[in-house]
Amino acid sequence: MGRQEPAGTDREFLRTDQYRNERNLEARRAIYRYAVEGGDFFTPALAALEGAMSVLDVGCGPGVWCDVVTRDRPGSRWVGVDLSVGMAAAAIEAGRTPVGVADAVALPVASNAVDAGIAVHMLYHVPPDEQPAALAELARVVRPGGPVVVTTNSADHLGELDELLTAAGSDVGLDLPRLGFGLSFKLDDAGEALMTEAFGTVETVHARGRLAIADPDVVAGYIGSLAALPELGADAPDEDGMVEVVSAARRRAAATIDRNGTFHVQSHAGVFIAHV
Ligand SMILES: C[S@@+](CC[C@H](N)C(=O)[O-])C[C@H]1O[C@@H](n2cnc3c(N)ncnc32)[C@H](O)[C@@H]1O
Repeated sequence: MGRQEPAGTDREFLRTDQYRNERNLEARRAIYRYAVEGGDFFTPALAALEGAMSVLDVGCGPGVWCDVVTRDRPGSRWVGVDLSVGMAAAAIEAGRTPVGVADAVALPVASNAVDAGIAVHMLYHVPPDEQPAALAELARVVRPGGPVVVTTNSADHLGELDELLTAAGSDVGLDLPRLGFGLSFKLDDAGEALMTEAFGTVETVHARGRLAIADPDVVAGYIGSLAALPELGADAPDEDGMVEVVSAARRRAAATIDRNGTFHVQSHAGVFIAHV
């Protein structure tokens, strides 16, 4: 893999740019419609929440886990919090409530107040030196014995899309680094060690999968969702430049799809499961 750098952990950038609404997240989520094999981390995450009737979802985004947690579980309650007002608004618009605007390191929730806590693909946005504080907050608000479920990606997640971004950059004369979608809180020994430090023991479940994307616009949409990430480095394109990068990525994806029928991507996410 190329350079490994933290994903955006700048709160202002996350609030006002990357997650000012749900659009970037939706563009990234779209690729999973083309999953052909494995990659399901929802099932083990949900199984770990068995019996929990109140679940706090930290960094809930538009609240898709509200549906996951309450579906087929009469009486269960979901509560979401997110750093971004736009994301909280999207959750409310979708009828996923209650939801509040709050930071993972200072949850506006009483101690021992909920049966379970989840942080789904969000801890890598918390600055690394604050990740222990975010885990301590989850430990504080979940009742003793309750599960804490944290999901994230491995360093080799979506490597083909990372390569495509760099290649598309070079097509238009830009030297873009490999992002390393594993990010600053990865499904690896370091992530496991942080979890163990916070909770004593942790179970790690890997979910490796394969996507076969048949639509070049979906690939291009994913690349476009990465616009303005600070990690794009010194050669980061401006808005017009990013349009060129996305067009180049689309051309490459379309050529691959013409040749092979689909654009193949390996996914590698997973779940850390701990108990307070
Ligand atoms: C990749 S999205 C995941 C959203 C949601 N958990 C899901 O799986 O659909 C990351 C979310 O974490 C939120 N976030 C980032 N830093 C945060 C922080 N310090 N505290 C709370 N939320 C944060 C972002 O605003 C964004 O909605």
